[in-house]
Amino acid sequence: MRATRILFLFFWFIGILAYTSFCANVTYDHRALLIGGKRRILISGSIHYPRSTPEMWPDLIQKSKDGGLNVIETYVFWNKHEPVRGQYNFEGGNDLVKFVKLAAAAGLYVHLRIGPYVCAEWNYGGFPLWLHFIPGIQFRTDNEPFKREMQRFTAKIVDLMKQEKLYASQGGPIILSQIENEYGNGDIEPRYGPAAKPYVKWAAAMATSLNTGVPWVMCQQADAPDPIINTCNGFYCDQFTPNSNQKPKFWTENWSGWFRSFGGAVPYRPVEDLAFAVARFFQRGGTLQNYYMYHGGTNFDRTSGGPFISTSYDYDAPIDEYGIVRQPKWGHLKDVHKAIMLCEEALIATDPQIKSLGPNLEAAVYRAGSTCAAFLANVGTSSDATVNFNGNSYHLPAWSVSILPDCKNVALNTAKVNSLSTISSFTREIFKEDSDSLEGSSSGWSWTSETVGISKDDEFSKVGLLEQINTTADRSDYLWYSLSIDLDDDGGPQTVLHIESLGHALHAFINGKLAGSGVRDAAKKLDVPVTLVAGKNTIDLLSLTVGLQNYGAFFDTWGAGITGPVRLNGLKNGSTLDLSSQQWTYQVGLQGEQLGLSDGSSGNWNSQSTLPKNQPLTWYKIMQ
Ligand code: GAL
Repeated sequence: MRATRILFLFFWFIGILAYTSFCANVTYDHRALLIGGKRRILISGSIHYPRSTPEMWPDLIQKSKDGGLNVIETYVFWNKHEPVRGQYNFEGGNDLVKFVKLAAAAGLYVHLRIGPYVCAEWNYGGFPLWLHFIPGIQFRTDNEPFKREMQRFTAKIVDLMKQEKLYASQGGPIILSQIENEYGNGDIEPRYGPAAKPYVKWAAAMATSLNTGVPWVMCQQADAPDPIINTCNGFYCDQFTPNSNQKPKFWTENWSGWFRSFGGAVPYRPVEDLAFAVARFFQRGGTLQNYYMYHGGTNFDRTSGGPFISTSYDYDAPIDEYGIVRQPKWGHLKDVHKAIMLCEEALIATDPQIKSLGPNLEAAVYRAGSTCAAFLANVGTSSDATVNFNGNSYHLPAWSVSILPDCKNVALNTAKVNSLSTISSFTREIFKEDSDSLEGSSSGWSWTSETVGISKDDEFSKVGLLEQINTTADRSDYLWYSLSIDLDDDGGPQTVLHIESLGHALHAFINGKLAGSGVRDAAKKLDVPVTLVAGKNTIDLLSLTVGLQNYGAFFDTWGAGITGPVRLNGLKNGSTLDLSSQQWTYQVGLQGEQLGLSDGSSGNWNSQSTLPKNQPLTWYKIMQ
């Protein structure tokens, strides 16, 4: 009993030690970030806390540490933390403080990318929808209402971190922060015209004024104002140079794979290529690189951006969606990190001496006093090569880098993967589950139908067609547009319902029956042959958003839904009936959503062994 208590106290003390051992000023010079006055090589990985559960966090962080990372990077997700203006949520899966503290407890640093625009394939790029309704607001430009809100939220996060003493200057793990995100991209900043530059300057000054005691970065912002460090995002960043010779070379997003879109291919980036890119970056003077993503995870609920970003955000990352290390990716990168860290003293001591060893062949040597580290690269894609370096001969496979921590012996070549490849039993289980298709085996499934058309009592009527996001305020992905019309005759066999919409998906029902559907571009101009009757006909159009836009200039204003015209074409007498300016009835959301069916908790579920066929708008549920 006593021994257990002593042991417990010992671990508690070690925990406190690990946690408080950061207390250090963070600065930078042309070579690296300096933590407590010492330049550091930083190997970082993105884990977005809302893309896993809090129960998973300690394990994900530990696996990152075991994989050789010394920094965890995350964005901060504004729409998670402030779903209603002024009402903050930092509980459960939103417990950012806990996440940062867990990284600290594992002895890792944190890079907090506040944004608060984050892109990230996250709904609306992380902006809360209410922001759109602030009078006079224009996002991401020199606009007072926007700047006021952006500053308020950024300061809120900084204050929270300060209160909890989470900045390195206070003894915490946060060594770096980001403001904005890729505003300098060629398809973004120029589109905002003359107001763009003042906005960038304002954002830089605003962030600096918050006195975090640690440096700020702006990624993909070639003219980031001092003292902000401009950083690179991409598949390769070895050719990047910062905008001042006083700033270090940082890589904030090394894409370990890519995100997945609905119906799209599953992205894959071979570890040999990823390892090559990392080694080239350090060969060419880089000192901080971050895997985007190290654990991609899952887009829970309606957090996917888009449109059409899948729920899985696996990203082909070194730790897979379910938190299991992906081999050989995780293991090979661990070996790469080890080899790079063996070079740390030489890397931080000096700048590289680069010399050509022949076409596509390059050596970089870091020599300071008695320490020496070298990187030998073959950037050719088709032939292996043998090079002579310091009197020795080295074999370099195509597209590879050899790392020599003593300028002589090869610790690792990026193209030679030694780490074991394993397929976990969990993954096999998932494949098995997948192969039991819905139709093949209905066991366990139950279902219930959604009503076609207006079914809730909060419907309302308006003349004309309404833009969807302004109407739903993203409370639901669904908006019904319903109309009842009286016709003298059935219109004839050539009648076509013509619908123009901004997307993202659309179902058209005539007199309660599904007449046609469209997704993506097919939802933007839909022509549906229809059968009408003489007398009263109902037209029910169900418009869907599939994740709100998260990237692009003015993406917040792109809109969705049926903006018209909506017409009946090809009527008997060759005429057309324009329905756009009729009195339409609207319903935000489905009846099933109101009943809480998406939580599976209530409703009249059917559980016959055969599932319904050809029946649109059906809810399905399975208990696991
Ligand atoms: C970057 C962006 C990230 C993410 C990534 C693609 O341009 O900064 O937030 O969207 O692309 O996954």
